[in-house]
Amino acid sequence: MSSQIDATLIPGDGIGPEIVESVTIALDALGAPFRWERCVAGLEGVRSAGDPLPAATIDSIKRTRLALKGPLETPSGGGYRSSNVRLREEFKLYANLRPARTLVPGGRFENLDLVVVRENLEGLYIGHEHYIQIDDDPHAVAIATGANTRQGCRRLLEYAFEYAIANGRRKVSIVHKANIMKALTGIFLETGLELYERKYKGRFAIDTVIIDACAMKLVQNPWQFDVLVTTNLFGDILSDLVAGLVGGLGMTPGANIGADAAIFEAVHGSAPDIAGKGVANPTALLLAAAMMLEHCGRREQAARLRAAIDATLNADGVRTGDLGGRAGTSEFTRALVARIRGA
Ligand code: NAI
Repeated sequence: MSSQIDATLIPGDGIGPEIVESVTIALDALGAPFRWERCVAGLEGVRSAGDPLPAATIDSIKRTRLALKGPLETPSGGGYRSSNVRLREEFKLYANLRPARTLVPGGRFENLDLVVVRENLEGLYIGHEHYIQIDDDPHAVAIATGANTRQGCRRLLEYAFEYAIANGRRKVSIVHKANIMKALTGIFLETGLELYERKYKGRFAIDTVIIDACAMKLVQNPWQFDVLVTTNLFGDILSDLVAGLVGGLGMTPGANIGADAAIFEAVHGSAPDIAGKGVANPTALLLAAAMMLEHCGRREQAARLRAAIDATLNADGVRTGDLGGRAGTSEFTRALVARIRGA
């Protein structure tokens, strides 16, 4: 058996512990590639350690530089700041990787295989916002400033280009709005084209698309795209759009890749409406675990996990309620483990 990789495991809130249990059982059946350090964050962090992102959790990720995370609850309006955003900042997780692949046929689009690579730290999400008062209206004018740096654009584009080569992708589309936001998104386009010419020319095809046209083209003919790389706000929107093309949140994993760590998660939240009922679909987090295995060079184990998920959903027809099936989380996990052992 190959050696175990140290990794931090955050079960999270709501359905988090249920789907994390499913993933750890499946990974054990694959040969237990990770040695887990269990930590808390989110609401569970507040409850058991008095902090939504306890120092012990940060220290663990500093050590392992690798984490699998269940969803973390964030109160709307008041309350504490999102632990997800804090983790992104703490570990400079500059790239958000969101693959969207058709897993269950019969949806709106068949045979889709797209990847959105989103810049995660800069752009219009840096939070430089203020109001200007005019007369007695304190919110008469709202102002937001965005910032994209050459270095930030380059490292994200370099990550997307290297990802395309390592994964045998045929085309990368740079998505921008440089016709209107000439500086803010022009720098991203300019840096991408310059980097391609200098270092990557001919290793995959390059394409440039304006964000609004891209949204329309994705809905009309998504197969024309392969890897999409873009700035923070556009990436946030496009990555949910592509999740919708392949059947929604329950099937979509995400990876946050940074200079100091990589954190893998499901795209969905803690689903408080079904928490504790044993009906949650663990597929998105299982796919996040497959991405984590690939990130660590364990391609064979990742491929076995992906094949077993596919066989469980399609050949065996074992599906949770959100996919129109009748299986609970444990029944799905048992069927998956049988496939992993038999595969
Ligand atoms: P949500 O994604 O938790 O739920 C939306 C709907 O999808 C619900 O009806 C839920 O039952 C269903 N759903 C989600 N995941 C499912 C799964 N695996 N299996 C079956 N059904 C599933 O979004 P919501 O309700 O807006 O957010 C709840 C909490 O989660 C909030 O506190 C929010 O801040 C947090 N959140 C955390 C995220 C993270 O940690 N990465 C991401 C998104 C939300």
